[in-house]
Amino acid sequence: MRKDTVLIIDFGSQYTQLIARRVRELRVFSVVKPYTITKAEAEKIKPKAIILSGGPHSVYQKGAPALKKEFLKLKVPVLGICYGMQILVQAKGGLVKESKKREYGHAKMQIDNHQDLFFSLPKEISSWMSHTDQIIELPGGFERFSHTANTKFASVGNSKKKLYGVQFHPEVIHTELGIQIISNFLFRISDCFANWQLEDFVSEQIKVIKKKVGKGNVICGLSGGVDSSTGAVLLQKAIGKKLKCIFVNNGLLQKGEVKRVLKVFKDNYKINLHYVNASGRFIKKLKGVIDPEKKRKIIGHEFIDIFEEEAKQFKNAKFLMQGTLYPDVIESISFFGGPTACIKSHHNVGGLPDKMKLKLIEPFRDLFKDEVRKIAQILDLPDTIVNRHPFPGPGLAVRILGEVNRERLKILRESDYILEKIIKQAGLYDHYWQIFAVLLPIRSVGVMGDKRTYENAVAIRAVTSLDGMTADWAKVPQDVLARISNAIINKVRGVNRVVFDISSKPPATIEWE
Ligand code: XMP
Repeated sequence: MRKDTVLIIDFGSQYTQLIARRVRELRVFSVVKPYTITKAEAEKIKPKAIILSGGPHSVYQKGAPALKKEFLKLKVPVLGICYGMQILVQAKGGLVKESKKREYGHAKMQIDNHQDLFFSLPKEISSWMSHTDQIIELPGGFERFSHTANTKFASVGNSKKKLYGVQFHPEVIHTELGIQIISNFLFRISDCFANWQLEDFVSEQIKVIKKKVGKGNVICGLSGGVDSSTGAVLLQKAIGKKLKCIFVNNGLLQKGEVKRVLKVFKDNYKINLHYVNASGRFIKKLKGVIDPEKKRKIIGHEFIDIFEEEAKQFKNAKFLMQGTLYPDVIESISFFGGPTACIKSHHNVGGLPDKMKLKLIEPFRDLFKDEVRKIAQILDLPDTIVNRHPFPGPGLAVRILGEVNRERLKILRESDYILEKIIKQAGLYDHYWQIFAVLLPIRSVGVMGDKRTYENAVAIRAVTSLDGMTADWAKVPQDVLARISNAIINKVRGVNRVVFDISSKPPATIEWE
């Protein structure tokens, strides 16, 4: 069956993932590639259309990423957004300069041309702007499609060549009818088919996995979270007994997790599941380690060592399946190819040793978490797994700031258990993307039963989010916070203070390390 793909070329915008989501919401598959992608690589994707993202640069700056003109030879419609529009205009011979006035936030936009991009839209819409540069001169063959009081060329296009640019951001919800503009680009201009759906993804992946695995066997790292559990069930459907799931207890899991995971899989599936208790190994390796990236790398390496040891005992094991998601890939790989933009090494991407012998199978590498949750539902996984909050691969180690040891693990595990229990009792668990406890590397003075205490502080982190890429701190009701604080301080030995984290992502991240 025909399946169209939209190629999104990333120039470093904070909104690039949002563009990918919007396109998929319109049921067309999309992939994001960095601006360094070559024409040959792009050709392999066979894009039906190309979208150029925004970015932090100015086109006239030395070293600013430019649009490779060869992409225009692919002869597919192109939509440039913000910086993407400016490089498109520059590549076609127009002029972009710094504007006198910065335009940021809502701007009323008048539409001058109702064909193509703005088909069926009203005369005026509210658009979301975020730019300091603007087009001064249009390239030959281009015309103006819309304007605002501050921006003469708020959108431009060459309908004949199917090249379009918008200064505003149609992908953010603040642009009124932005989704309609993207829809016009996909369906009126680019002739895309709206037939991407997750059910097809499941059946296609089953075929792809079968073919890729061939005569080999697969080891699957099962953590009990939604990604690896869904991956395991999908793989079982694809290759049955050729799959061996390994559930590693790294000593960094939540309270009761080992029993819960083993029970869910024993009760529901006939999966070949092997439990490895390696907690001592991990905790020993983490002794004295404080640096968050070092912790992540150590844990990632230890996991791989265990999987390779297990692989030796599983004849013909050639592959390792991991539940890597799209945001893990994006956040672990530096945008500019240097180390500066790598935010964290998510252990299932950045933490893998180069020498790893097993080849990777990552069926969800292109998907967002909510898409994986839908797949879990399609595959009939129990709600306790489908709705489980994300839990990072490196586990509680990245929620203990400073050294990880058994004593600190016990404090955090108990605090986290109490917190989750109260949140569930309050009926709030499903309201949040995540809510968890973090053990801080400080002690502070308190008073208990007339005695001075000098003990640990625990932070509560609660966020709402759509895909973990951006997040708001959650406004947990004060009475619930009071109950949590009271219960933790009373029940967990070694804690005399509980604080609440009120930082959003960005600029903070969800996990503290
Ligand atoms: P951050 O802290 O980067 O987290 O804002 C974004 C989301 O990813 C989860 N996370 C991880 N998941 N392996 C994972 O599978 C990891 O190494 C990892 N680190 C963070 C985090 O819990 C949040 O949902």
